Amino acid sequence: MFEPVKISPSILSADFDRLGEEIDQVLKAGADWIHIDVMDGHFVPNITVGVPVLASLRARYDAVMDVHMMVSNPLEQLPWFLALKPDYVTIHIEAASDEAELRSAVELIRKAGAHPGVALKPDCPIQALESTIELWDMVLVMSVFPGFSGQSFIDTTPDRIKQTVELARSRGASPLIQVDGGINAETAALVGAQGADVLVAGNAVFKADDYAIAVEAIRNAAEEAAASSGR
Ligand code: DX5
Ligand code: ZN
Repeated sequence: MFEPVKISPSILSADFDRLGEEIDQVLKAGADWIHIDVMDGHFVPNITVGVPVLASLRARYDAVMDVHMMVSNPLEQLPWFLALKPDYVTIHIEAASDEAELRSAVELIRKAGAHPGVALKPDCPIQALESTIELWDMVLVMSVFPGFSGQSFIDTTPDRIKQTVELARSRGASPLIQVDGGINAETAALVGAQGADVLVAGNAVFKADDYAIAVEAIRNAAEEAAASSGR
């Protein structure tokens, strides 16, 4: 069954001087979700936003809040973020010391009423998901090394999406497949053809002159590629 893709603009490329208005505008332009990159300066080199900013945003808008946690200590941090009632919370598999930690994170996230997601950096083998694939509502296949917006799409990503879809199917699991980093209309087609469901885009949306045109171009490219791949 053909499912429409979701577009989740990353606020990291927005103008932080007028963040609230930027979000209003991108939602008006047709964005489905809002992607919020939380970086701790340790798991990744950059530092972005934390709980106070998310709390203000949660109070401001109603759309799906998609939180990408690039932090070294997800179990310690999660309770603070979950108190804000986000919709999707994605942690990095590399940040958990073992499978028990991943399972505890899933439990915490579900208990708070949110959907658990797991992210993999571009050099993390998809096989790392083997023992937990059925636990997640979303798998984020990173298409750049996390840390900064505006990087180029890594071309091993479509094959990694394909591997993720195959692994999930073989286990009877059907997590959403999210992709994040260097997504524009051209790369959206490459990931759409392999079954990506949620496309994160920073620069391609927030640096565009017209957000609605940018969102639609990414959506159409992904959906056309999905349809012609026969998925
Ligand atoms: C990278 C972040 C991305 C990034 C995407 O670490 O997770 O969400 O902001 O930005 P673009 O689309 O510009 O690569
Ligand atoms: Zn992200």
